[in-house]
This record gives sequence, C-alpha cells and structure tokens, in this order.
Amino acid sequence: MTSAVQIVRVADGQAVPYEIQIGAGLLSRAAELIATALGDLPRSVHIVSDTTLAPLYAPAVRESLESAGAKVFLHTIPLGESEKSWQRLEALTDAILANGIERSDALIALGGGVVGDITGLAGALLLRGVSVVQVPTSVLAQVDSSVGGKTAIDTRHGKNLIGAFYSPRLVLCDLSVLSSLPVRELRCGFAEIIKYGLAFDADFFAWLEDKAAILSNPKDSAFAEVLGVAVQKSCQHKARIVADDARDTTGKRALLNLGHTFAHALETTLGHDSQALKHGEAVGLGLVLAARLSESLGMAQAIAEPVMRLNQRLGLPVALSDIGLDASHHDKIVQAMRYDKKTAGGEIHFVLLQAIGQAVFPCTAEQQAVREVLA
Ligand SMILES: NC(=O)c1ccc[n+]([C@@H]2O[C@H](COP(=O)([O-])OP(=O)(O)OC[C@H]3O[C@@H](n4cnc5c(N)ncnc54)[C@H](O)[C@@H]3O)[C@@H](O)[C@H]2O)c1
Repeated sequence: MTSAVQIVRVADGQAVPYEIQIGAGLLSRAAELIATALGDLPRSVHIVSDTTLAPLYAPAVRESLESAGAKVFLHTIPLGESEKSWQRLEALTDAILANGIERSDALIALGGGVVGDITGLAGALLLRGVSVVQVPTSVLAQVDSSVGGKTAIDTRHGKNLIGAFYSPRLVLCDLSVLSSLPVRELRCGFAEIIKYGLAFDADFFAWLEDKAAILSNPKDSAFAEVLGVAVQKSCQHKARIVADDARDTTGKRALLNLGHTFAHALETTLGHDSQALKHGEAVGLGLVLAARLSESLGMAQAIAEPVMRLNQRLGLPVALSDIGLDASHHDKIVQAMRYDKKTAGGEIHFVLLQAIGQAVFPCTAEQQAVREVLA
C-alpha cells in the first residue's frame, strides 16, 4: 500500500474550506492532522463509532489524541440504518452533553455512512455547531457520504428527511481500514465509484474497466493501490461538484444521483432494511437501468452494455432477476419512483446520460419507457 498522502481540497462555500486526506495509516496520526486542520488540538474529543468499528479502530485514534493531551470520550452506537433515528440522536447528544463539551471541542465520526450522517447532524446541533472530523471506514463513506456536508437522520416518513448541511473540518480516509471491510460492502462502494466515471469522466470509467480484474480480487498485490487511486479520483469529483452546488439547488449536485431514482424505488420495493439488497447494490443496478433508459430515449448509444459488463466484473447486479424481482414488481417500482425527491409537479425527473462521462439533469420519461427498461 502506498504511504503517500493525497490531499483533495473542498471549498463548498458553506464554512471554512477543508481537506480530504487519503492514505494509509492516518488513524494513528489523528491528533497531528486534526490539530493542523483546526488550528489547535481540541481540549476534548468525542469519538462516535459503531459496535463493529469501535473495537477495531477507536484505540488507535484514542491513543494518538490522548498522547497529544486531549481528553477522549467514546460513544458506541449499534449497527444499522435504523440507528439514524431521533431516539439515537437524542441519546447521543445527551451522552455528549453529560460528558461535557465546549464550542472548541470536536466530534469524530469513525465509521460508515450511518455513523457519519448522525454524527454530522449531532455536530451541527450541539452548542449550535462544533467541529466535526469525518473518518470514513467504508468505501461508500470515503467516496461519498463523508464529503459534502449532508447530514441526516431518517423518519417514519422516509430516509434522510431531517438533517442539515454542515461541512466537516477534515476528512481522513485511511485506506488501511478498508482491509476489514466485508466484500459485499466493498462492492457497494464500487457502485458509487463507477457512478463518478459514468456521470463525469469517461477516462476514469475506462480506467476502471482496465483495473476491474484487480479491484475484484482483494488478494491481488495491486488491489490496495488501485483502490486508493479510485477513492482519490472519486473524492476529486465529489469535491468539485459540491463546490459548484453546495446546497443542491442548481441541478449540478443532483447529477450525483445518477442511478438513484431507480435505486431508491428498488429499495422501497424490497424494503429499506432488506438484507437481499444493499443501497450500493441498488445503485449499481440503477446505473444499468439509467443507461438503458438513456439509450431507449435516443439520448445515447451503446452505453448500457459497458456498464453491465463492469458491474458484472465487480460483483454488482445487472438485472432485476439478480435481486429476486420480476415483472410482477414493475407496478410497485414505478409507483415508488413517483415519491422520489426529484419528482416535481408529478413528473419523475431522472439523471440520464448523453454518453459515458456526460450525465444530464433533469430528464423526463414516459412510464411506458421506464417499464420497458425494467423488463
Ligand atoms: N451524507 C451523504 O451525502 C450520504 C451519501 C451517501 C450515503 N449516505 C448514507 O450512508 C449510509 C450508508 O453508508 P455505509 O454503506 O457506509 O453503511 P454503514 O455505515 O451501515 O456501514 C456498512 C457496514 O459496514 C461496516 N463497516 C464499515 N466500515 C468497515 C470496516 N472498515 N471494516 C469492517 N466493517 C466495516 C459497518 O459496521 C456496517 O455494518 C446510509 O445511511 C446513507 O443514507 C449519506
């Protein structure tokens, strides 16, 4: 694994610009890197993690911070999307307040997107805003959820409906932690990585095709290095997009939702807590369906086949049958799309493609055209 640290700067206009640092072994340098980003080491630091990750990775972060003189509190939350709840947010903020926190203190989100989203929101709310450092441990969190300042919890009315735009002060993508990530979670991250190539960067898409054999084999000696490059490239795209449209108002940030209208509808159809379909898998299949719809509307040619091939090589689904759905589910899927947050005036607005590397938004399609690509 490369020991060099790559830095991507994010100037999203929300707050102070911040850095994404990408490299191996960053956890044990947490104190030094946080002190540099914040101008000083906070007196107290609250690490938030989940029950899988806290025992694996909190000790290294704690040791770095304590040996530099910071007081460290560890808050461990249970696993799963259901933890992005009012109840967990209340319990977490209450525990942090009980430990004591000042405006100059910091929260560290050490985990995947679930930990990152709830910790980011807690950071926005506590004392009207304390510093948040994201230390994403899943590929999905490293290339997507930790960057861009979207924080949220879910409600019974839907996912991510209560939240705030609140940027972190630093993102530390330690590539060493990815070695413990289950293969299925790894593939979920690949879907978001493919998305960046497909939406914005044909050369990156071709590079992923070229490196697919390595990425599909974590035992390959080049795996860690290639994954590191893919994370870096993806973060560059995310940083560029959020700098252009931090608050998701101009349509540019919406391009990051390529494949997601289909993905959310598939997740709704199977149930959001379904073990049969993870979010990243739904995004992977959503990319195929978006490419097929772009072709069937005459917007693009010969793009679906390469996406399907790349998905297959990286272990992602390419057809409804791969996730246990069939024609009897088409009505439910189309119905679920009508509740997509990009729906406006009753019309579903898709992110579609003019070519590989050229996503466009908003695009509309007749229900019949959507049904045809599901088949
Ligand atoms: N804020 C945003 O912009 C944004 C963007 C995309 C997704 N999200 C959110 O992110 C969440 C999904 O994130 P996720 O896929 O990281 O899910 P997650 O946080 O549930 O992590 C997935 C699983 O992998 C485990 N894990 C993570 N890193 C590991 C590691 N290094 N070793 C071993 N196990 C590890 C976790 O413990 C968990 O069980 C969703 O809630 C979604 O809404 C937010």
